[in-house]
Amino acid sequence: MEILRDIAGVRAFVAAARRRGARIGFVPTMGFLHDGHLSLMRAARRPAEARAPALAPVEAVVIASIFVNPTQFGPNEDFSRYPRDEPGDLEKCRAAGCDAVFLPPVEVMYPSGHRTTVHVDALTGPLCGASRPGHFDGVCTVVLKLFSIVGCDVALFGEKDYQQLAVIRKMATDLDLPVEVRGHPIVREADGLAMSSRNVYLDPTQRVSARSLSAALAATRAAFEAGERGARTLEAVARGVIEAAPGAEIDYIEIRDAVTLAAVTQPIDTDVVLALAVRFGRTRLIDNTVLAV
Ligand code: PAF
Repeated sequence: MEILRDIAGVRAFVAAARRRGARIGFVPTMGFLHDGHLSLMRAARRPAEARAPALAPVEAVVIASIFVNPTQFGPNEDFSRYPRDEPGDLEKCRAAGCDAVFLPPVEVMYPSGHRTTVHVDALTGPLCGASRPGHFDGVCTVVLKLFSIVGCDVALFGEKDYQQLAVIRKMATDLDLPVEVRGHPIVREADGLAMSSRNVYLDPTQRVSARSLSAALAATRAAFEAGERGARTLEAVARGVIEAAPGAEIDYIEIRDAVTLAAVTQPIDTDVVLALAVRFGRTRLIDNTVLAV
């Protein structure tokens, strides 16, 4: 596995792979990797190998990036204490079968004088966009830069960050990026908590309370499957479960259109996403489930 720290190195590595006819799968991360990230890396190998049997097999090359992107953190957020473990992450990337890992220093991604920001309108307004102003501008800017550096055919993102995935898809469509943006299902702990690098911040009591997120999604899904179509009623089901969890402070619980993230008028007659963000002390966790009509 190649360990690359500058843009020229990534481009040379990708150019050599392209000369062999390989397709490039890319998994951008902020490190402190867990099984959710590793499942993305394994899935990144699949598109090329899943081509029609009549076509000659195509080599898949998988590149991951590890970069804690300062521009997507607000001034009072956890950038400086975000968990980092470069040696452990590199071992995990190797075990997951990555061919290369790009670990750029901040000055490689944002040299002094950097002045360009990418903004996707509308989709970035509600949910995490409302409580984390500027967050998605930072995400889009770094992801577009990474796409441009890596020149990947397919990029994989976890569905836990549902809004992020929707925003990146929109950016790729609007800017005609030659990248297939692919979502991958949420990977959960045995008790249902969605895997996140931020779970490490939870103390034992908060960790127990954090089970309420997936429990709230399950209770709401059960009500939906039993025929409930009132968006506010379904949100109230989720709210009831979270409010019963000690120490949980709700940031938002909202049902929105699954594609546009527009507000949903009752009754639900199109696919929607139930998205939630909840704080436990200084730790903010998100989760979601799609309710398909
Ligand atoms: O989801 C993440 O880890 C980050 O937002 C991403 C996509 C790597 C951009 O920094």
